[in-house]
Amino acid sequence: MKFSCDSRRIRRDLEALAQFTATPGRGVTRFSFTPEDRLARNYIKDRMAEAGLKVYEDAAGSVFGRREGKLPGPVVMFGSHYDSVRHGGIFDGAAGVAAALEVARALSERGAATALPLEFAALIEEEGGRFGRPLFASRVMTGLVQPEELEAAKDADGVTLAEAMRQFGLQPENIAAARRSPASLKAFLELHVEQGPVLEAEGKDLGIVDTIVGISQFELTFTGRPDHAGTTPMLHRADALVAAAAAINEINALARAAGPGTVATVGNIAVSPGAANIVPGTAVLSLDVRSVDAAKISGLVEALKSFLAKLPESHGVQVNIAPGVAVPPTRFDPKITAMLTAAAAGRGLAARTMPSGAGHDAMVMAAIAPAGLVFVPSRGGRSHCPEEATDFEQIAAATDVCLEVILQLAAG
Ligand code: HGY
Ligand code: MN
Ligand code: MN
Repeated sequence: MKFSCDSRRIRRDLEALAQFTATPGRGVTRFSFTPEDRLARNYIKDRMAEAGLKVYEDAAGSVFGRREGKLPGPVVMFGSHYDSVRHGGIFDGAAGVAAALEVARALSERGAATALPLEFAALIEEEGGRFGRPLFASRVMTGLVQPEELEAAKDADGVTLAEAMRQFGLQPENIAAARRSPASLKAFLELHVEQGPVLEAEGKDLGIVDTIVGISQFELTFTGRPDHAGTTPMLHRADALVAAAAAINEINALARAAGPGTVATVGNIAVSPGAANIVPGTAVLSLDVRSVDAAKISGLVEALKSFLAKLPESHGVQVNIAPGVAVPPTRFDPKITAMLTAAAAGRGLAARTMPSGAGHDAMVMAAIAPAGLVFVPSRGGRSHCPEEATDFEQIAAATDVCLEVILQLAAG
């Protein structure tokens, strides 16, 4: 039974979700447990209910629509995240949620029966935009989130993740209830925009991801001494920002030296007291290191630690390195990759296997279930910005491929 998904409904859902943003006119900003989250999840729940799904939230607050099969389980899960970065695009994450909604509709309209149950997932807090704890929903499902993380993670206003969950009507103390056992999942599939230039440059309709980079995040705190900017001689300063700048340059040099496939980014810096006439007392940097080779990540981090250890002597500045989220490089299930490749070829689509430099929930879910990830081309390779764009017809075509493989996986 060949299905074809409806690009117009995918477009309608993406344009509807795009309205739920804290920064209208300046991209999508939809952090978890916010009013924008509430509007988006209610929209998603309504579409799930219309598609005949049994809708529920897990203890972390992710939204699921379940479609029963002849057997009680294990589940074939298909979905992505619906939170965003600040001033992001309308496709990152949401394209995979819209694809999941469309598959649910297509199956419902045709009264298709499956042996195994299906769950369509709209996951929270993949970006970590609010609490700095990315891949949160999938880390909860795979048992990687301890209750203390919920109390330690804070947003810009100092609200802990646990408090935000409580204010949103959730019970963070029950977070363990959202854990999924490996036996409960037959497979996890995700459709996502590529967020890079490869598919468009090669004229491909879709990408089938075989490997995804490992990601290690850190917070680096540089502690010097705030002083008067006018009366403190240059040789008497312990300027935290100058030390941080030296570290940023070293990070950049180490990543370039590591060669292709390894990247490191300082995406955020906070300086205090933060006045023109005060020598910076502290500087706090985010650090994101990625590579398909775990040894390259650890090698870069160790070399950086050696460099930072010299700063007290050279700059009079102490440095603290706080590890954040770390996920290893992941290879996706070759059987699922082969099924996706065959389904794309069977539809005459131009596809290629490729690595992913972006992190995705599928990489975490791969720890408990065979997982697969499908990319659709990003115009100009742009993402994490309002200019992010992808053809709705290409999303629909890739959704057809996912639907075909979901039916194969759910056949028992
Ligand atoms: O950071 C990432 O790679 C993804 O966009 N969360
Ligand atoms: Mn993203
Ligand atoms: Mn994403």
